[in-house]
Amino acid sequence: MPSTASSNQNPPSTTALRERRAPVTAAKKAVTGDFDFVVVANRLPVDRVTAEDGSAEWRRSPGGLVTALAPVMASADGAWVGWHGATDEKLEEFNEDGMHLVPVQLSQEDVELYYEGFSNSTLWPLYHDVIMPPEFHRTWWDRYREINIRFAESAAASASKGATVWVQDYQLQLVPRLLRAMRPDLKIGFFNHIPFPPMEIFAQLPWRHRVLEGILGADLIGFQRQSDANNFLRCVRRYLGFTVKSQRIHVPDEDGSPRRIARAEAHPISIDSALIAQLAEDPAVLERSREIRADLGDPDVILLGVDRLDYTKGIRHRIKAFGELLADRELSVGQATLVQVASPSREHVGHYITLREDVEGSVGRINGEYDTMSHTAVRYLHHSYPVEEMVALYLAADVMLVTALRDGMNLVAKEYVAAHADKRGTLVLSEFAGAADQLRHAVLVNPHDIDGLKESIMEAIRMPEQESARRMRIMRRQVTTNDVARWSRDFLESLSRTDEED
Ligand code: F6P
Repeated sequence: MPSTASSNQNPPSTTALRERRAPVTAAKKAVTGDFDFVVVANRLPVDRVTAEDGSAEWRRSPGGLVTALAPVMASADGAWVGWHGATDEKLEEFNEDGMHLVPVQLSQEDVELYYEGFSNSTLWPLYHDVIMPPEFHRTWWDRYREINIRFAESAAASASKGATVWVQDYQLQLVPRLLRAMRPDLKIGFFNHIPFPPMEIFAQLPWRHRVLEGILGADLIGFQRQSDANNFLRCVRRYLGFTVKSQRIHVPDEDGSPRRIARAEAHPISIDSALIAQLAEDPAVLERSREIRADLGDPDVILLGVDRLDYTKGIRHRIKAFGELLADRELSVGQATLVQVASPSREHVGHYITLREDVEGSVGRINGEYDTMSHTAVRYLHHSYPVEEMVALYLAADVMLVTALRDGMNLVAKEYVAAHADKRGTLVLSEFAGAADQLRHAVLVNPHDIDGLKESIMEAIRMPEQESARRMRIMRRQVTTNDVARWSRDFLESLSRTDEED
């Protein structure tokens, strides 16, 4: 439950006061733009692909956020501000797929310092329970601030008077405050897609006050889990000394006088359940899932892992557990196969390079030891696939392994459930993934406990059909009722209520 204590036990330190009084930035005053609804995210919702004739074209990116917001963008005269993925390339604003897109330019050095550096080598490991040690560099922080100003200026120039602006994720935590300073007329929401760490971990961040103040520029701050919101509220009380009552934060003016209320709430993100369920009935997808099973030599049990190749996902733990089950002769090749899809991610960041070497080393060792001429132990695929192929894989898999060491939500778990209208299949789910709050009928695991993980995998494999169907039915109800459209609607409705309530 959110705490109801007020701030007064923990007065802010002198550093906090000095930080709080720091001028917002030297950012430009913005002109008013044309759009009533503006999304600000690190990436644009489209990817550039090469068409068959060699020309470049844009295609909508896969993923829940785009699916959820595209209809809102179309109906509300919306614009999306984000990076288009290439370095040192200036693009003009353009319309694509019914959306107005505003590209933000990043140089190669911006990507190294702001994206690979501060976002993904400082904040990402810090916010994921320091699974890997975060690095703190002032040059990275300086560039993070500069790029946040660039995004804020672009959003400010796009938003019409009184527009709603929704800022997404940890790469842009300073944008809400910057934007409010440039455009006090805006209604600003912020959603943190990744976990917000416990205060004792957040404490390490040398710029903790600045980050908290940055986020607090928003009227509504959304988190995946209630525990993330609680961690944030605790940090606000401790480091800024602001009064927090229930989920409401009293954000004072620079001189300390009462000013406005910001709210922190849990809004767990979801998937386009209807799309996944519809694909799962598509004859071509069903045929493909049969083909996958046959290509794997028709084993009794297909175990499946689908992740970005990221150290937070617990891929090493999963492969270790599977390798030990083979060594213990609990499972054998031919009877069981683990399919691991690991899509390439952040390939220039040190910890990701090491992770790839480790994972590929263990897969090679296990396959070298246990493969036969006709069957493989681990089918490892370092690729991304279109959603149709993913659904075919979900349908082919008897057991889905989601063993994240820490994960904001994990949409793969929800997609697996949505695909199984046939009520087949069992989900093994880490208790450290946000999805565990909603999918209580999965086989919940602590992935650090390798023996426990092995037992849970065997429990899932041996689960009587009736029992796995019962669990799948309950989980499907959750996922189909709470889809991604509902997530965005609930957040935006709550954001629109901020004035009346506060
Ligand atoms: O939630 C974290 C996130 O930024 C997602 O929005 C995104 O799908 C994933 O991490 C990978 O992001 P990127 O490739 O931009 O680092």
